[in-house]
Amino acid sequence: MKVEFIQRDFTTIKADALVLVLTKDDVGGKKAAELSRLISKFPGEKSHLERALAASGFAGDKEEQMTVYSLAKYGAAFLVGTGDESQLSNEKLRRAAAAGIRAAQLAKAVSVIVATLDSVTEETSHYEVVHSLLEGAILGAYKFDKYFTLDRKNSKVDTITVALAGVEASIGKKAAKDAELTCEAVYLTRDLCNAPANEIHPEALANVAANMAKKYHVHSRILDEKQIRKLKMGGLLAVNSGSARPPRFITLEYKGNPRSRDWYAIVGKGITFDSGGISLKPSAGMAEMKMDMSGAAAVIGTIQALASLKIPVNVVGLAPSTENLPGGRAYKPGDVVTTMSGITIEVDNTDAEGRIILSDALHYAKRYRPKAIIDLATLTGACVVALGHHATGMFGTSEDVMAQLKEAGEKTFERVWQMPIFEEYEKQIKSEIADVKNVGGRWAGAITAALFLKKFVGDYPWVHLDIAGTAMLEEPADYSPRGGSGVGVRLLTEFFKRIAAQN
Ligand code: BES
Ligand code: ZN
Ligand code: ZN
Repeated sequence: MKVEFIQRDFTTIKADALVLVLTKDDVGGKKAAELSRLISKFPGEKSHLERALAASGFAGDKEEQMTVYSLAKYGAAFLVGTGDESQLSNEKLRRAAAAGIRAAQLAKAVSVIVATLDSVTEETSHYEVVHSLLEGAILGAYKFDKYFTLDRKNSKVDTITVALAGVEASIGKKAAKDAELTCEAVYLTRDLCNAPANEIHPEALANVAANMAKKYHVHSRILDEKQIRKLKMGGLLAVNSGSARPPRFITLEYKGNPRSRDWYAIVGKGITFDSGGISLKPSAGMAEMKMDMSGAAAVIGTIQALASLKIPVNVVGLAPSTENLPGGRAYKPGDVVTTMSGITIEVDNTDAEGRIILSDALHYAKRYRPKAIIDLATLTGACVVALGHHATGMFGTSEDVMAQLKEAGEKTFERVWQMPIFEEYEKQIKSEIADVKNVGGRWAGAITAALFLKKFVGDYPWVHLDIAGTAMLEEPADYSPRGGSGVGVRLLTEFFKRIAAQN
């Protein structure tokens, strides 16, 4: 996809479609004169557009949409409202641009101009207006259609241009490039989540990570089964034992700030298919468990985003990866597993496998003496029960890191919500025969899972993000279609931009 910024107003450019994002003030309020002035520059179109506007009663209300056909420069114009200008936000711009681009895509447009009145940019920063419009448009245009070979491959938008005469070219171009690179990383993460488990198995996931690393000059090391055995990653090996495919342990070192010795570690759960193992899941909905590597995919996407945007910070991405299957050698309820840290786990349910593989990855992360460890995992159904699909569950020991993640979440609208990890919950995961048990009973399942992970981070500042409800959407959201959302990439990229700015 080609993404660009042009410092011109939309009336001067030709494309298949125009997406025009308008506030209420632009249409009927104090800015109406400017809209009218701009429209009057459309050669011979003034009356046509003005009549259409008047006849439709389009007022620029939030989520209001209108289509105007057969203009001279555009096959169609899609007008999308954002409501009161005083209430305008980055998120409203993203959603409006996404609604417009989807309408344009349905109308088979391939090149699309996205614009708003320049007046919008008086109140919001120019950089953010361009960035948000493009994020919404690019993410909204995403389709996972690589497996359609017959007649269902529809046309796709391949050029998105933001046109705003009032934004300085250097600012607009920088915002467009940043949005493009960020969204490319989100696309990678979404593609990995949406890919079926016969395509993205642990070796394939590791190959994608290694190829990404090569392309973006990130140092990668992929540990194979032999090396994993040598490191005594007993958790990863136990979960892997029921699968015919070997495990992988992915490490990606992005050194964006060579002058600093500070490292941050991001750790992602990479179960490429979770059948539940011997504690088999019911068949209904099991296919969804191809996305149980969303945490790993978010780690790979985040490293790509940081590297392509050249954010000056040092981040290591870690992702243990295996299938969780009930093969003849599979680990079983009642087994006791010794992890790399030496801590022993009583396996009560083989479907609580994510925390078992993460135990080794969190312990491994300590090698970097990280300033903080942040893990992402589709860890518990309980988190989905608690928060649904609109917030990621956040647990941790560092109030400071959590506060910054919360801010990054508001900014990117990949919102997180803190949950408690009171020590009183801990007795639920006490084992009679080992150091810890891998399930904590019926209540507070997301919390007991977090407390399990906490045992493996030692004294390092740590935050756990349970993305079980936010990584894969059952229904399309504003700029994410059904399926992989790519959650975590924009959140962590924004988080590390903030860390870099503090250095
Ligand atoms: N991968 C699942 C969690 C999950 C559920 C992710 C729904 C996305 C959507 C995880 O491995 C799992 O099976 N967890 C169990 C834990 C239980 C056995 C303690 C669960 O949540 O039911
Ligand atoms: Zn499971
Ligand atoms: Zn799982």
